[in-house]
Amino acid sequence: MKHDGRQELIDGLNEDLRGEFQAVIMYRLYASMVQGPYRQELRAFFASEIPEELMHAQILADKISSLGGTPVAEPAPVPVVFEAKEMLQKALDAEVATLARYVKRRSQAEKAGEHGLVVQFDDIIADETNHRDELRQMLARWP
Ligand SMILES: [Fe+2]
Ligand SMILES: [Fe+2]
Repeated sequence: MKHDGRQELIDGLNEDLRGEFQAVIMYRLYASMVQGPYRQELRAFFASEIPEELMHAQILADKISSLGGTPVAEPAPVPVVFEAKEMLQKALDAEVATLARYVKRRSQAEKAGEHGLVVQFDDIIADETNHRDELRQMLARWP
């Protein structure tokens, strides 16, 4: 393996892939499990996040494979909670952590000379920023 940051990048992308698998499972569970007066809205919201997170997982898995790595087959642990507000808070925590990872990963991709991936990270970072902001907006005036 050359010392161009490639292995470090593959390892980081696999950490990110675990996070995307976690997001897909988390949003699917929360959409199904959420109860209370806002169930309909929250169910639709959680479910609407899944296609974007799956697309992120696809981009990461494709890239890991094309860099010569093996994509992980396990998600990061999914927090199972039962109150709607707690679901929103767990999702927000995950989106904030994900964003921080992607900002770091973007600069690793740049160092590794993966300029196309840098552009893909710009789009992914924009998606995750929207997820974070919507979750913050919902929690801001939660009763
Ligand atoms: Fe994502
Ligand atoms: Fe997200």
